[in-house]
Amino acid sequence: MLILGLNMFHGDASAALIQDGEVVFAIAEERLNRIKHYGGVPALSIQACLDFVGADIGDIDHVAVGRDKDANLARKVQYALANPAKILNFIHIRKRREAMNDLKSLLGRAMEVDPAKMRFQEHNVEHHIAHIASAFYCSGMEESAGFSYDGSGDFVSAMFARCAGTEVEPTERVFLPHSLGSFYTMLCGFLGYRKYGDEGKVMGLAAYGENTYCEQISDIVSPSGTTFKLNLDYFMPLGSNSGMQISEDGTVKIQRHYSNKMVELFGEPRKANAEISRRDRDIAFAMQQRFEEIFFHLINELHKQAPSNNLAMAGGCALNSVANGKIFTETPFTRTWIQPAAGDEGLAVGAALYAYHSVLKQPHRHEMKNSYLGPEFSEERIRGALESTSLEYRRLDRQPLLDVVADQIAAGKVIGWFQGRMEWGPRALGNRSILAHPGLPDMKDTLNARIKHREWFRPFAPSTLIEHQSEYFEHDHPSPFMLHVYKIRPDKRERLCAVNHVDDTGRLQTVSREENPLYYDLIRSFQSRTGLPIVLNTSFNENEPIVCKPEEAIDCFRRTKMDVLAIGPYLVLKEENQTRVEEPVAV
Ligand SMILES: [Fe+2]
Repeated sequence: MLILGLNMFHGDASAALIQDGEVVFAIAEERLNRIKHYGGVPALSIQACLDFVGADIGDIDHVAVGRDKDANLARKVQYALANPAKILNFIHIRKRREAMNDLKSLLGRAMEVDPAKMRFQEHNVEHHIAHIASAFYCSGMEESAGFSYDGSGDFVSAMFARCAGTEVEPTERVFLPHSLGSFYTMLCGFLGYRKYGDEGKVMGLAAYGENTYCEQISDIVSPSGTTFKLNLDYFMPLGSNSGMQISEDGTVKIQRHYSNKMVELFGEPRKANAEISRRDRDIAFAMQQRFEEIFFHLINELHKQAPSNNLAMAGGCALNSVANGKIFTETPFTRTWIQPAAGDEGLAVGAALYAYHSVLKQPHRHEMKNSYLGPEFSEERIRGALESTSLEYRRLDRQPLLDVVADQIAAGKVIGWFQGRMEWGPRALGNRSILAHPGLPDMKDTLNARIKHREWFRPFAPSTLIEHQSEYFEHDHPSPFMLHVYKIRPDKRERLCAVNHVDDTGRLQTVSREENPLYYDLIRSFQSRTGLPIVLNTSFNENEPIVCKPEEAIDCFRRTKMDVLAIGPYLVLKEENQTRVEEPVAV
């Protein structure tokens, strides 16, 4: 049975293919069309799914979309009637979504295929049910509490659920306009970060702030019963789209969220690219602190409704790895499984698995043991891409490749590491990564100046051999998808200075040999040279979606000041670095 899962007409459009209950392929459209957070029809992703199993769209049995326009309709109507100014906005959005009503025609146009050739049955899965499904059904857990939270989806911003076997049973919804995602987006906008997906940047800034505004910021969102309420005086009226618009070209735009009350209380908002002031840092600090307080209130309440040691979680806010890292000390949950594509691209997997289990009553459970679900490229294809350039390259067997790359990382070089299948979700986890030494004091500045051009306050992440996690970090719950931030042990902070954030934390990826043998063995090789079972890992890109194809990796390598590219079995050195590769490196 082939089920195609889709997220479309929403940020981070994506497609996933489920074959007899196994997630065999999943990708966000931005990786293929190179438009960040693309929100149109994921036609290239659908084709990539089909190509992976050698099928065509006529072979698909079911298509599941992570959206149900009729879900929570009564609440939408009630809200629109109470806010007549927003009725036009609702009509506009519903009209746009009507384009999805005839899914076969829509896909026929996008894929240039006759709709008569399609025989699939359609399923619409409510946004947050799809999020929770994307976590629970992939988790390998027999039962768990389920939680999803984000800006909004199908008029809901958070959902509690009881999950067991093949069932996901929602127990509570938080309806718009109340949204913890909107709270974060509003304050990020006030701090000058107004692009879709900018929230993760500001999370890094919070650690530089102090408790100056916590009381004022607490007035913006408060616990209310089992959930929370926004103080709407601080927000612009945003309609049912929660202030997000998708342009005709598929780019996603965020409208201004903050009201004049914010300006009256805190002064003028920061302009994009302006200096970051003491005030901005302290607002970021208070924002993250209040976010965490409300989050822990929510999941402690969830635990009462769905008592379990296990928590399956997704939704854009579940990418808040600082909050995730504190779950084990602030709540009764002892085990988490967070979908690596926690944002809306993950809806494709969740909708398809929900259709498979809950609608079609199929019992076989898929366990997502790693996130390497995207395309990979043959050695021949990689060599072809290299041959079309003037770059000199050489082929190495596995161990010599690992030895040279480990030597180069140990020598302080910056490595482009392109191997195997691309990661699913926003994090590079050792297949489309830039790697460097985590213990060199200048490495963060070097990476920023030469390649990444990121804000100074954003930390780089450590990839850690899982067996050594608790020697270096204060928690031992694994973090295979780089979704937990933990304190680094005091005696290890200097040795990890390039990945140690200002608050002595690291957003780690734990690496087991089972999940990624090549990456694991590379880190081991680095450990044998330096004693450190950890490398610095950042995504392989330069202000663009993460590279997907060999040509994009080679382009990024050539236009930035990366020293080495290891692409499949091929090693490419920048000219000025060529003579150094054979030099022995001091251990
Ligand atoms: Fe969402």
